Amino acid sequence: MTNARIPLAGVIGAPIAHSRSPALHGHWLKRYEIQGFYVPIELAQENFEAGLRSLPLLGFRGVNITIPYKERVLTLADVITDRAALIGAANTITFRKDGRIQADNTDGYGFIANIRQNQPNWQPKTGTAVILGAGGAARAVISALLGEGVPEILVANRTRNRAEMLREHFGARVSVMDWSALPEALPKAAMLVNTTSLGMSGQPALSIPFERISPKSMVCDIVYAPLETNLLAQARKKGCTVVTGIGMLLHQAVPGFENWFRKRPEVDEALAAAVLEA
Ligand code: ATR
Repeated sequence: MTNARIPLAGVIGAPIAHSRSPALHGHWLKRYEIQGFYVPIELAQENFEAGLRSLPLLGFRGVNITIPYKERVLTLADVITDRAALIGAANTITFRKDGRIQADNTDGYGFIANIRQNQPNWQPKTGTAVILGAGGAARAVISALLGEGVPEILVANRTRNRAEMLREHFGARVSVMDWSALPEALPKAAMLVNTTSLGMSGQPALSIPFERISPKSMVCDIVYAPLETNLLAQARKKGCTVVTGIGMLLHQAVPGFENWFRKRPEVDEALAAAVLEA
């Protein structure tokens, strides 16, 4: 027996009841027989700062942060990783031994790790990526793709101005295109990524002109409920390589779990099943 404190971690958001992170981390804690806990924490706006700052006293090693606090948490952090600064939001907080709050963003890492696990032969430097959407998820995906050496990224968004802001932020490899220009852009796209909420259960369908997409394209959706979105079903029919969205969620959790519970966890089918059932 040791007197070591039981490690705690969790996820802060509002609302938080629907978060799949407790099932995800709970599965790993059980699998690796780690004596620790991962809990959902709902904090109202006025309690966010005091609530976050109290957690290390309670034995928390860190937390995930979700909507609506992913940007705000950067104003409370003492150390911000380069990728969190580049994305402008954080999803993974670690309470360091020196008392400092470290903010990281693992969404882009999760996006890339998922592709690498499912498509090990992916060659990011060989072609253009078309990104649908210009919100927080798009920022994470674009910064990660730039980091992998994708030579050209075309962003299409309902609100063009938000796409223009991404172009300004990320520079010359990013261009803005109108949604209506997709028929011309798709034939030369090596990769198409949906980062919008379209196609999610309860949301409008994503409808794009698929006729001209190249069968050599890789099509990724970050929506994972349903797992087989209409976009991915159409892409499969065209013969494209398809990457589903659940793996991004699973992989983005790896660095946090490793920091807090001192074990690098595996992403596999059993984990995906546990999280999809949750
Ligand atoms: P997240 O952080 O998950 O990316 P977000 O910042 O709210 O969430 O961004 C949601 C994205 O989905 C945006 O690109 C949004 O387009 P707008 O910038 O025009 O709002 C897109 N989106 C959501 N609902 C949409 C709809 N009905 N039609 C087209 N795009 C939609």
